[in-house]
Amino acid sequence: MFVFQRKIILFFVLSVALASCNIENAGKDGSNIYEIKADSVLSLMNLDEKIGQMTQITINYMLEKKEDGKPVLPFRLVPDSVKSVVTRHLSGSVFGCARRAFTLKQWRQFVKEIQTATKNTRLKIPVIYGVDAIHGTTFTAGAVLYPQEIGQAATWNPQLVEKIGEATAYDCRATGVPWNFSPVLGLGRNPLWSRFFETYGEDELLTETMGTAIINGYQGNDEKIDGKHVAACMKHYLGYSFPLSGKDRTQAWIPELMLREYFLPPFRKAVESGALSLMVNSGEVNGTPLHASHYWLTDVLRDELGFKGVVVTDFMDIILLHKNHHIASSYKEAVEKAINAGVDMSMVPADFHFQRYLKELVNEGKVPVSRIDESVKRILTLKFKLGLFEKPVPDFDNYADYNSRKHMELGRKAAEESITLLKNENGILPLKENMKVLVCGPTADSLKYLNGPWSFSWQGKKEEYYPQRKNTIREAMEIVGGQNVAYCQAADLDGLTDIDKAVSKAAMSDVIVACVGEEHSVEELGNINEYRLPGKQYEMVKRLAATGKPLVLVITAGRPEIITAVEPLCDAVIMCYLPGTEGGDALARIVYGKVNPSGKLPFTWPAFPATISTYDHKYTDENIDGKQAPYQPLYEFGYGLSYTDFEYINPEINDSLFSPDDTIYVKITVKNTGKMPGKEVVQLYASDLYASVTPPVKRLRAFDKISLLPDEEKTVKFRLPVRNLGFIGNDLVEVVEPGVFVLQIGKFRKSIRVTE
Ligand code: NOJ
Repeated sequence: MFVFQRKIILFFVLSVALASCNIENAGKDGSNIYEIKADSVLSLMNLDEKIGQMTQITINYMLEKKEDGKPVLPFRLVPDSVKSVVTRHLSGSVFGCARRAFTLKQWRQFVKEIQTATKNTRLKIPVIYGVDAIHGTTFTAGAVLYPQEIGQAATWNPQLVEKIGEATAYDCRATGVPWNFSPVLGLGRNPLWSRFFETYGEDELLTETMGTAIINGYQGNDEKIDGKHVAACMKHYLGYSFPLSGKDRTQAWIPELMLREYFLPPFRKAVESGALSLMVNSGEVNGTPLHASHYWLTDVLRDELGFKGVVVTDFMDIILLHKNHHIASSYKEAVEKAINAGVDMSMVPADFHFQRYLKELVNEGKVPVSRIDESVKRILTLKFKLGLFEKPVPDFDNYADYNSRKHMELGRKAAEESITLLKNENGILPLKENMKVLVCGPTADSLKYLNGPWSFSWQGKKEEYYPQRKNTIREAMEIVGGQNVAYCQAADLDGLTDIDKAVSKAAMSDVIVACVGEEHSVEELGNINEYRLPGKQYEMVKRLAATGKPLVLVITAGRPEIITAVEPLCDAVIMCYLPGTEGGDALARIVYGKVNPSGKLPFTWPAFPATISTYDHKYTDENIDGKQAPYQPLYEFGYGLSYTDFEYINPEINDSLFSPDDTIYVKITVKNTGKMPGKEVVQLYASDLYASVTPPVKRLRAFDKISLLPDEEKTVKFRLPVRNLGFIGNDLVEVVEPGVFVLQIGKFRKSIRVTE
């Protein structure tokens, strides 16, 4: 009876607290309505409830398992485990999926069971569920998957990327999940790194533009996130993508000047555009793991960038401060370091020691309650913004567009705009439908090579998990070319299979389309010892080229592959990146000329494994005698061909003398002088000729993608504040130094002078 009365009183207090938070209350001390609501719930919470909110547990923990520890199929939750996580330990967040994607029905059922369990807690605070929907709803069986980030970057089309974000958010919500651990905002400046494909490439401006575009798509434009949008989670803050050895989660030494010049700005922009959460880098930078860095997690992120959202750790990363990084002599000390550094939520992921230690630390006075309150307030604010208190389980009937044709078409369009034509000699492409084509190679007849990791499973390697109705390259080519398309594998990723058969079939063909690539893995499993196409793919290309038939090389890969030895043997080279479930169709449409390619490289393509460099390298990277310079690209950043021709005419700049507070206006007209409609990416670069920190040879400062019909011309206008030409000086402050700058668009160059 007494318990019952207490419950009624609490329910009353909570309802009054929430009801009294109206818009009029908002804003008086700078807080918004969601923060005020969060405060009122926070004021009712005890320490266990607060620490519970800071705990994130994997769904795996709750799945029924067989004796060998593997989940029972079909997946189901164990009610006692759900109770343990939600009701007993009061965990505020659940994340992830099993090793294999759930069906839509399973997602909905699991979300419902978890949220229903919160009804049996004192305050009934909903759980926030997070997932890696990094190129579509990657962990939902049968979903449309879009190009991985590296391919999205190759579109150079932020509007399209925003649409990918919107569609992904919609499909995520349709599964009941309101939080997406995406986008990766680390720069891909070293293709050896196993997660290079998860980046928007090497350039800071391209990364920040695409990053903010997808965040807008995920979150929508309103402060309140509606039922069709999700919270984005920018990751992995900071410097994760640039380990010294190229191996995942190993030491990175990145001077603060470089962090601030290249790696911090995309996060700064994302914070400005309202990103609601952030995941921390699992690695260490300059001798400090980011999870223990008060400087980066609080001084810079909160005080300098003004980030107000939730900071979540990566997988197990607090205990790893002890086990891997050796910066804490026990798990408990690791918890102390991470929480005091500024972590809000721990992706634990499968036990409750974090909670126990954190409670002890608070009671011992080693972690202040104010630090806990700050984190819990942020988490509750996010839950209010996402509407979880009102509707922890969505109305699942409202998602008619889930995985719809519209989303498939978007996936195909995105893949088409990403695919990059790198070589096209003797007019070999586009192919005519009546040509006899031999399609071959290890990646030609498989879906996993089109998608890569985070596709229906973590590593994405199980062909049988892919929706079989989607077309491989071979199938898509057959749909267009019909009987004229023959197939022979020729090689798998280990060696040559039926190469002699392929060679004799080639003799009966007009052209060979040879598909190469690698089996990508992600995180530590994706570390590589050799930077080359695996198996005997080079031999395969050489044998096929020796037939004398025109050869089109199609690369499906998440990084530039080393192809210098075979590239001269090919008449055409096409880079597909990891284009997603619609990628086979997209490629076939490009090969047959139904679509004009318009992708441009978001990275520098190295000629050799030991010439890894970026377009914005220093002058000394080029000035070495002979051929030993670090910068030796096979193809340059920003490069990509079209089936039509574009002419750049009448470049204009409004002045030649500017002060640092001025704005430069640049105009150029682009004309389609060929016979096909096409899209062109107009790129504006600037070079600071002399500076107190050695300047890069050039930096991308603006770009625009335009569509042109044959004979059509358009004038592209750029507005470039002189401040944007600045750099981080030796005192770590951004500066524009007076002197001469060269602006460059295509082959045009014009010098301007910036005064004091
Ligand atoms: C580890 C990965 O580093 C991170 O990107 C991902 O979001 C989490 N696991 C959750 O799956």
